[in-house]
Amino acid sequence: MVNTKVNLCGLELDNPVIPASGTFGYGEEFSALYDINILGSFSFKGTTKEPRFGNPTPRIAECSAGMLNSVGLQNPGIDEVVQSILPKMQTYFHKPVIANIGGFSVEEYAECAEKAAAAENVGWIEVNISCPNVHGGGLSFGTSPKAAAEVTKAVKSVCQKPVIMKLSPNVTDIAEMASACEQAGADGISLINTLMGMRIDLKKRKPILANKTGGFSGPAVFPVALRMVYEVYEAVKIPIIGMGGVQSAQDVMEMILAGATAVQVGAANLREPMICKTIIEELPRLMGSLGISDLSEIRGAAHS
Ligand code: FUM
Repeated sequence: MVNTKVNLCGLELDNPVIPASGTFGYGEEFSALYDINILGSFSFKGTTKEPRFGNPTPRIAECSAGMLNSVGLQNPGIDEVVQSILPKMQTYFHKPVIANIGGFSVEEYAECAEKAAAAENVGWIEVNISCPNVHGGGLSFGTSPKAAAEVTKAVKSVCQKPVIMKLSPNVTDIAEMASACEQAGADGISLINTLMGMRIDLKKRKPILANKTGGFSGPAVFPVALRMVYEVYEAVKIPIIGMGGVQSAQDVMEMILAGATAVQVGAANLREPMICKTIIEELPRLMGSLGISDLSEIRGAAHS
């Protein structure tokens, strides 16, 4: 019998598998496909103070071993989420959920986080300072250690729930970003968000995405994500959620060996909606075949 339970910032998860924000909506559609209560948790769609329609289309482009998105944080706004979606979520998801929040100013981040944290079924606040698809927000806070620290402090000052800062890979030194968040009081770090990319339509001789650039995700980014989780583990003491191209139980184990406490699955949900269920079923078998009885035995074991 193996133990897949992990402790994420003081809350126990049945397993480390968490669908990533932006690939699972608010969970309702997936709950029609399988019992999503088997998940460790899930991170809901990045939610902002005001409702957002998102960027113009086309906002998805396919690539070899991955995809580009430039959705632009389409969401119904934090008030609708807190008043309607989170109460309804309690009918189909009976565990604490991760509230992923976005913002265009430090004040907006704090306001959104405070409202989300007050909801009883929110367990953690994941602060998205890494969205590459909006102007004047998201990534502009996630590429400067000073700005990232400022957002962390503002959110921490209004939240009683653990605050996890979601980092961008589009920086020179990811460890420096993680350390700045930790020093500002973050309870955890999640990484990586998407890599900025582009595709061009040969006939039109123009970028495929209306936004010109988008965030690249999928299996191609896994080695980059793993390397960054490895580097951040050496820089901080707080728990890490690893993500980026994860699509199998093997990938989950590699992330944990690099130092992750939990692991998010993103683009793979869009290609194979049952992927998290498959990974959750496969994980104990893989642990057994490798002689691992508890995931805490191997966390960070790849570091000498
Ligand atoms: O554009 C989007 O909605 C994606 C957000 C993100 O990658 O953080």
